[in-house]
Amino acid sequence: MNIETDYLVIGSGIAGLCYALKVAEHGRVLIVTKGDISETNTDYAQGGIASVTYEPDDFETHIHDTLVCGAGQCDLAAVEQVVKNAPARIKELIGWGAKFDKDKKGRYELAREGGHTYHRILHHKDITGHEIERTLVRQVKRHRNIEILEHHFAVDLLTQHHLGQLVKKNTPDITCFGAYVLNLKKHEVYTVLAKVTVLATGGVGNIYHTTTNPSVATGDGIAMVHRAKGVVKNMEFIQFHPTSLYHPGERPSFLISEAMRGFGAVLRTQDGKEFMHKYHPMGSLAPRDIVARGIDNELKISGEEYVYLDITHKNHRDVIDHFPNIYEKCLSIGIDLTKDMIPVVPAAHYCCGGVAVDLNGCSSIRHLYALGETSCTGLHGANRLASNSLIEAAVYAHAAAEHSMSIIDSIELQKDIPAWDYEGTTIPDEMALITQNYKEMQQIMSNYVGIVRSNVRLERAKRRLEIIYKEAEELYLKSTLSQHLCELRNLIAISYLIIKHATARKESVGLHYSLDYPPLKHEEK
Ligand code: FAD
Ligand code: SIN
Repeated sequence: MNIETDYLVIGSGIAGLCYALKVAEHGRVLIVTKGDISETNTDYAQGGIASVTYEPDDFETHIHDTLVCGAGQCDLAAVEQVVKNAPARIKELIGWGAKFDKDKKGRYELAREGGHTYHRILHHKDITGHEIERTLVRQVKRHRNIEILEHHFAVDLLTQHHLGQLVKKNTPDITCFGAYVLNLKKHEVYTVLAKVTVLATGGVGNIYHTTTNPSVATGDGIAMVHRAKGVVKNMEFIQFHPTSLYHPGERPSFLISEAMRGFGAVLRTQDGKEFMHKYHPMGSLAPRDIVARGIDNELKISGEEYVYLDITHKNHRDVIDHFPNIYEKCLSIGIDLTKDMIPVVPAAHYCCGGVAVDLNGCSSIRHLYALGETSCTGLHGANRLASNSLIEAAVYAHAAAEHSMSIIDSIELQKDIPAWDYEGTTIPDEMALITQNYKEMQQIMSNYVGIVRSNVRLERAKRRLEIIYKEAEELYLKSTLSQHLCELRNLIAISYLIIKHATARKESVGLHYSLDYPPLKHEEK
């Protein structure tokens, strides 16, 4: 079946939905999303959304904090674009119905997180992402120009390759004509033809066995661009959040927001000792990469499986008021955080790299935009400043909407794309193989390409991954499409890119820390 649309949006988190709402004023929009509409990283976001709101905060300081955290690898133009446009995008979210907490005087109550000079994080209790997603879903569902296909999985981008041409990395003007999309309920593949295609497919957390990301975060958009010969960059910069709840067997790992450390919580080893001042003058509120490495190091020294986060010294009522969701979650497993310390471990959390885009969200492939966590705008550099990603998604969705609306009238649909070829494939009866390969991939990445890396570890990871890659490709060629098989294939491509980019970087910087290139002491701080 062929479907035609003006704007094809793949993904229904903050990036995809903000974009859809804007371009829907100008043409037909089709949103495809592989799960229920709200199953997104966005829905899980806790701490909040960063924006300069009141003095003494100002744009210069937010820019400075972002650049410092990014360890010299940020793109200044991207940083300025996000920081300076943030207040307008916040106003828009509020206009659409998002509610951020206010104090008794009616002023927004701003939180603080690691690496921020000032309190500048707008939030809705400790479930900010859920509030934003709720608001946007309500708006898109009401819009008559927007059609939503849940449980539809984008498999591959359509390019000249599907017209029988040889497409290589250096082919000029690779162009996107839409995507093949698998209807997960009917097991049919649709050819979706679009004038403009937008990848807003989120993160990659599931390459590791401990992650805060929901199961939809399998790097599909980035892998699709890689296969379509587009440019992907900075994949070595995977952010591990220092404090996910230690609760073995639970996936995703439940996050204990950094806002709790902003509120005064302190990290301690199991014998009760504060340890972060050994690693950084900001102690428990140091930038995330340093805190995650500090915890990793303490766990290696002690041989223990977790450290503690301690908030028991703060006013109990205030803590429960600010973190009701975290309080309830901990209570549900027998931890009363007003009395007990919380066991925490680092978990894979955010991908700073992704599809390379310009200031309008344009990728290297014509008529293809990438937004949100799937993209690499240059904002985060080698390490993302907390709560900068929701705002990045909103700002770039706006820029991409403006840009795509300005070019769409000159774009024709490409109607010569052939239907999906089902020939020669059998139903995969190899589910056990897929599951086993998935686990092996997570093991390889967690053991050898985690918080601390080395040349030997990367080389070993590459060799092990090659075996799984070959097996998965063989399976893919002989099987009908299934979501699990496609995701496995995408995750292997992402793992390959991380290993490749990490191997190419001959230094320790930000989130990429290699034992072979120890940073100079002053660079660590
Ligand atoms: P997502 O919200 O992840 O949406 C991706 C969408 O793409 C989903 O709908 C998914 O189903 C769909 N999709 C993926 N692949 C396919 C496919 N092949 N076909 C069809 N659909 C597909 N950031 C902050 O700024 N502040 C915070 O406080 C914060 N807290 C966080 C807490 C947690 C626990 C987590 C996990 C992240 C947090 N982040 C936070 C990061 C932030 O939430 C994400 O970076 C951001 O929400 C990403 O938005 P997105 O729209 O790019 O992707
Ligand atoms: C958190 O609440 O700690 C997450 C913030 C973020 O990832 O930006």
